[in-house]
Amino acid sequence: MNKVPLNREAVDKIIADNKIKSVGKASIREVKKIIDDVEKAFDFRFVRMEMGIPGLPTVKQGVDAQIQALKDGVSAIYPDIYGTAELKHETKRFVKNFLDVDVPEDSCVPVTGSMQGSFASFMTVTKMDAKKNKLLFIDPGFPVQKQQCKILGIATETFDVYQYRGEKLRAKLESYLQTGEIAGIVYSSPNNPAWFCFNDEELKIIADLANQYDVVIMEDLAYFGMDFRKDISQPGVAPFQPTVAKWAKKYILMISGSKAFSYAGERIAVIVISPELYAWHTDYMKTYFAQDTFGRAIVFGSIYALSSGTSHSVQYGLAAVMKACNDGTYNLVEALRDYEKKAKFMKDALVENGFEIVYDKDQDVPIADGFYFTFNYPGMTGEQTLNELVYYGISAICLDITGSDQQGLRACVSLVPHEMLPVFAERVKQFNIDHKK
Ligand SMILES: Cc1ncc(COP(=O)(O)O)c(C=O)c1O
Repeated sequence: MNKVPLNREAVDKIIADNKIKSVGKASIREVKKIIDDVEKAFDFRFVRMEMGIPGLPTVKQGVDAQIQALKDGVSAIYPDIYGTAELKHETKRFVKNFLDVDVPEDSCVPVTGSMQGSFASFMTVTKMDAKKNKLLFIDPGFPVQKQQCKILGIATETFDVYQYRGEKLRAKLESYLQTGEIAGIVYSSPNNPAWFCFNDEELKIIADLANQYDVVIMEDLAYFGMDFRKDISQPGVAPFQPTVAKWAKKYILMISGSKAFSYAGERIAVIVISPELYAWHTDYMKTYFAQDTFGRAIVFGSIYALSSGTSHSVQYGLAAVMKACNDGTYNLVEALRDYEKKAKFMKDALVENGFEIVYDKDQDVPIADGFYFTFNYPGMTGEQTLNELVYYGISAICLDITGSDQQGLRACVSLVPHEMLPVFAERVKQFNIDHKK
C-alpha cells in the first residue's frame, strides 16, 4: 500500500506525460485523466473530488416509467418538440408546488439537459435586439457555459460576486446594465462551484434591475432543493426554492434532472420561460427566426435546429418523477441529504487541519453543506494547493477556471464513497503536518 505523499518524481512524470505543466491549471477532464493515470500507475485510490457526477441512483419512479414508455414503443416516434403533454403538465405543477410560481404549460419545454437549455437560451436571447448582444455572468460559474458563448460568438461580461453580496450587488449589476449592451444575466443558485445561494433580497435586486433595463434572467437551478438549510420538499407548502421568478418579468429557469433526480445519463432538463418573455416580439428577431415571439423562436427555431426535441422515453421518466414529487409520494430533498453529510464531514476535517473554506457565507449566514464546497490552504495559491494535494491522493479543480478571483479549489463530494471519508481525514492531516509553518 502506498503511503502519502506519493513519490513526487513518479507523479511528476505522469503529469508531464499528459503534457500538462501544472495540475492546478488543468481543465476538469484533464485533471480526471491525470488522476486516472496516477491511480493506475501506483495501484492507489484517490479521494476524487474533481467531477460533478451524481453519486446516487436515478429515482426509481423515473426508470420504471421510462422502461414502460420504451415498451409502449415511443422510441419509434419523434417526440413533439415542445414536449410531451405529461411532462409539461407535471412541470407546471412542480413549479407551483416547489417555487410557488404560476406558469402555463406552454412555458415548460424539455431540453436535452440544462446544457442544451443554456445553449438554446443564449442563442435566442442575444438575437432579439441588435444593440443588446452580450451576456453578463454573475461568477463564479460553470465553465462550459462560457465555452458555449465562445462557440456562439457571444461576448460576455463577468464579475466575481464574492465582494458584492446583498445590497452591494445593485450598483455592481447596474454598472453593466447601464451600457445598454446586456441582453441577459446568467447565474446558478445554489452556485456551482461555490455553493452560495442568493437570498430573496438579492434575487429581488436582480429582478428589479432586469425589469428596469429590459434584460432576460437565466436562472440555473441545477441543484434544485439542495440548500439543505431549508427543507423545500413539501409540495405547496413554504419554504419554497428561492427564485427570481417571484419578481422578474422576463426569465428562463433551468431545472435539470441530472443532479436533483440523478438523471444525468439520459440528458433531460426543463426550461421554464416566463409568460412575458414567451410572448415577447421584436422586429430584429426576424433576421434569425421565422417565428414572431420569443417562446416560439426558442422552441421552433433554436431547439429545432439543435436536436429537434428531447429523447421521448426520458420525458415520461422525468414526468413520473415530478408527479411523485407533486403528489408527495417521493421526497426530493431527503434522497439528496447524503451529499450534505459527506460535505459536513469533509469540511470539518479540512478546517481541523489548517485549511480554510473560501466561499463560507451567504452574507452573515454560513453556507449550506452540499454537493460542492470551496477550500484552500493558507499561504498557498489555489494552484499550489492542488499541485501539492495530488501527492496526497486528493483531487479537485482550481477555482481559477470558474471565473472566481479567489484563491482555492472546488471540491465535489458526490463521488467520494463513505468508506473513503476516514482516509480523506488522514490525508489532510498528513498534508497539514508536512506544510504547516
Ligand atoms: C450550474 C450547472 N448548470 C448546468 C449543469 C448541467 O446540467 P445538465 O446535466 O442538465 O446538462 C451543471 C452540471 O454540472 C451545472 O453545475
